[in-house]
Amino acid sequence: MRTPSQPIYLDHNATTPPLPEVIRAVSEALCVAYGNPSSGHRQGEPARRLLLDAREALQRCLDAPEEHFIFTGSGTEANNLAMRSLARHAKSIITSKVEHSSILSCADQLQTEGRSVECIRVNPNGVVDMRAMRHQLATHPEAAVSIQWINNETGVFQPIDEIIALARKHGSLVHVDAAQAVGKTKVSLKALNPDFLTLTAHKFNGPAGVGVLYARRPDFIEPICVGGGQQGGRHAGTENIAGIAGLKRALELRDDSLTEVIEHMRMLRDTFEKIVLKECPWVRVNGYHDERVCNTTNLLFEGIDGQALVGRLDSKGIYCSQSSACTAGRPEPSHVLRAMGLSEAQAYASARFSFGITNTLHETELAARSVVEEAEHLKRIFA
Ligand SMILES: Cc1ncc(COP(=O)(O)O)c(C=O)c1O
Repeated sequence: MRTPSQPIYLDHNATTPPLPEVIRAVSEALCVAYGNPSSGHRQGEPARRLLLDAREALQRCLDAPEEHFIFTGSGTEANNLAMRSLARHAKSIITSKVEHSSILSCADQLQTEGRSVECIRVNPNGVVDMRAMRHQLATHPEAAVSIQWINNETGVFQPIDEIIALARKHGSLVHVDAAQAVGKTKVSLKALNPDFLTLTAHKFNGPAGVGVLYARRPDFIEPICVGGGQQGGRHAGTENIAGIAGLKRALELRDDSLTEVIEHMRMLRDTFEKIVLKECPWVRVNGYHDERVCNTTNLLFEGIDGQALVGRLDSKGIYCSQSSACTAGRPEPSHVLRAMGLSEAQAYASARFSFGITNTLHETELAARSVVEEAEHLKRIFA
């Protein structure tokens, strides 16, 4: 198999390339809206206008009841802001074992500060154990819930409507980490009705470094950043106007084409999976097959080293990732896959492929054939 002439990027759950229209919106804002939105003079006006327009776009595209959006420096920051706000209003926090590290690390911090946090198990498909959720809510009267909508490693959906309905029944606040959902599934904040919801622009072809926290009740925000009193004192710091302009453009573009985008990404993911699973019947999909987001497949290449596979693909210009966070260069087995019951060896033998709108069918087929070739090669070596 020849090395593809162009790199093939299959790591869109990590980040996505900003679209040309987004790059234009960012550079235009840097040129015309460089003023400080908090300045009293007229040079602050374009920036102020841009902030208003971005909030309007968020409300329209996410079908939100109000324009209650706090701009942050990342999805991580939005998640921290949400967790601290939940902690201020609840006696304990219920979350899951498969959350993003921005939730789990914050949960650890809260615990060291004496807060009660319960991380609920998931079943082998990666879905939150609803019996455990019901039990926790029933036995912790003033608990709050923080739960992800779509898992970043497996793409598995959590039963978000059911979780929110249950939390409401118990009078609990709910935060939804929708970092992997916005841009890949229809989001209606009116229908979902969470108290807080996180999104981040770089997961849907916007710029990195721009997150948003939706807050149904902004007065419930517990600031983690104090200073100049921007955003009503709820998240101080001069706003990243250019980044927010990029977020707005990316969100509008995605909203205009959501149905086609979902179909395109699903077609690529399914084609890829079909080729790999047909040629390597020993490979297995990690996570609930039918309840996965359109663009993600997490594959278990039993018996081989996933890191070696990712490395060999990298040398061919095919970029995917192992379902693990790298700490100081040392890959840890994925906490998500381990929570789903995979052994350490199986977690190390897994790799994630996540597709995006800029991928083509041709490159997807090329990538799938390279994966087959490399996996079979490694299997012979490791056998
Ligand atoms: C589910 C989830 N939550 C939060 C984040 C954090 O977003 P950011 O990279 O903007 O900090 C990510 C990013 O990978 C994610 O996948």
